[in-house]
Amino acid sequence: MKRRWLTITVCVTALSWQWAGAKGLPQAQTTQREMVVTANPLATAAGAKILKMGGSAADAMVAVQTVLGLVEPQSTGIGGGAFIVYFDSETGTTMTLDAREKAPAAATEGLFLDPDGNPLGFVTAWQSGLSVGVPGVPRMMEHMHRKYGRLPWPLLFVPGIVQSLKGFTLTRRTSDQVTGLLALNPSCEDRLTFRDPVAFNYFVDSEGTTCSAKPAGTKIVNRDYAQTLKLLAIQGTDAFYTGAMANDIASAVQNDLNIPGTMSPSDLAHYEVIEREPVCFVYRENNVCGMGPPSSGGLAVGQILGLMAHFDLSDKQPLDEDVVHWFSQAMRLAFADRNKYVADSDFVSVPSAGMLNKDYLTERAALIGPNDSGSVAPGVPPGKFDPYGPDFTAKTSGTSHVAIVDRYGNALSMTTTIESSFGNGVMVPGRGFLLNNELTDFSFIPTTPSGDPVANRVQANKRPRSSMSPAIVFDDRDRVALVTGSPGGSRIIGYTAQSIMNVLDFGLDPQQAINVPHYQNRNTTTTDLEIPIPNVTLDYDVDGLTTALENRGHIITLIEQTSGLSLIRVTGGQLIGGADQRRDGTIGGR
Ligand code: DON
Repeated sequence: MKRRWLTITVCVTALSWQWAGAKGLPQAQTTQREMVVTANPLATAAGAKILKMGGSAADAMVAVQTVLGLVEPQSTGIGGGAFIVYFDSETGTTMTLDAREKAPAAATEGLFLDPDGNPLGFVTAWQSGLSVGVPGVPRMMEHMHRKYGRLPWPLLFVPGIVQSLKGFTLTRRTSDQVTGLLALNPSCEDRLTFRDPVAFNYFVDSEGTTCSAKPAGTKIVNRDYAQTLKLLAIQGTDAFYTGAMANDIASAVQNDLNIPGTMSPSDLAHYEVIEREPVCFVYRENNVCGMGPPSSGGLAVGQILGLMAHFDLSDKQPLDEDVVHWFSQAMRLAFADRNKYVADSDFVSVPSAGMLNKDYLTERAALIGPNDSGSVAPGVPPGKFDPYGPDFTAKTSGTSHVAIVDRYGNALSMTTTIESSFGNGVMVPGRGFLLNNELTDFSFIPTTPSGDPVANRVQANKRPRSSMSPAIVFDDRDRVALVTGSPGGSRIIGYTAQSIMNVLDFGLDPQQAINVPHYQNRNTTTTDLEIPIPNVTLDYDVDGLTTALENRGHIITLIEQTSGLSLIRVTGGQLIGGADQRRDGTIGGR
């Protein structure tokens, strides 16, 4: 996308929202030159070191990604996939990189159906070889470095290699996630999750018939991972996609102890990342650029904000009943379209431009009334699409967001994933990293009961639909203004849209924007309000808001909403960072 100058002046409402910076809550941090925000302190430190050495945002990303794969193994790794939105200051262009996992060539639309044609249970599909997509992260790192790197490739692997050999302490969050997975096991011996002895011994303490997660604080050394990183550092990523490592990955998938998958060395050898045009739309005179299909993120965030643009928020506050109501209705409408139309656009026609068409959104916004609408039907956006049935697939856990701005003015927004906690639960023997289960993001059923094919059905070499929504927001003079994104399954869309609204409409700094409790409606029965977390999110009148919304027809559920937002605001020559304390977010740079 070429740089574009808008003529209208930016209009940011700087509300003096008295409790926005409430005491005891995490505070934003400011740097002058460069900044990196990730979900783990060791990954943040690695990125900050590379930036300090004069590395670009792309260089820092490689160090961050390789360290995250070690220290946040439940969320991300070289066995997974990612999407990047990148602003290159030299050319003034923004590109997106699709490093999404691919279905193997032998995959068919019945991948997740049992012999009777019924969909497999989620856990059965997840904890199997069927769910593993061909990883995109190694090629993504190499592509970004070749195009935008400034430091030598091998140097970027040093933090990951050193940390793997020196060891790191298991975080409370990782240990708790292992406990959560073990809870799904019928018994310690007959294991459904952590069926793989390599992963089991890495994450679990066992004695006889009892087993428990290694406790937080346990020191973990991963020599296999160090060796893998050394190979990538010296030989490049062909060492991953071809030869012995590719054989080991394919063999781990094909010999899965639960259900074998079909991924072959040839699937790995043929994997390619794809540069795609960003999906951009103007919101309150700012240009928001995100990831298009196969992610639904950019389009859904665009639709939500495009619908919110029909409401005057200038005298509102972030948790006002009206704001929560309008946002929940905007989410309903966006999810109805997302579920029906969005999938891998290399396989199906997605009416992307039509979904963000101004007149179409005006027509859709007219459906938002004073009361909850209940489940809404998809609209008919202008443009070409096939007669698809909806896919309601929605998932949780297993993803991380990275925001980086370097001293040269480049900005990187990356959401990176292995899908569910610890991916499919299998560590490639001798290689020290986990496999993903990204293919469970496909619809398990290929056709609806009425016989319509589902756009997001499994097809050979296709990429499953995602909700990941990495975004970069540009101000009215096309300068980078905000880098944002989050993990959280299909809730990512709401988290990201809300973060943009909190900054642009309510004038909150990035940390305040993150500290605001979430509210979501994914066009299901309920509107979900976040349970406040002491010292992490703002406290608010939960009962008052619940009653007010119930009076407007909402069915309210109060639940945890564990976003992992990483935000960088660029303004007045400074970088202001916000990191999500619902996970282990940290800010680095100087
Ligand atoms: O691509 C997607 O939409 C999902 N695989 C993301 C999963 C996720 O965010 C889990 N996060 N906590």
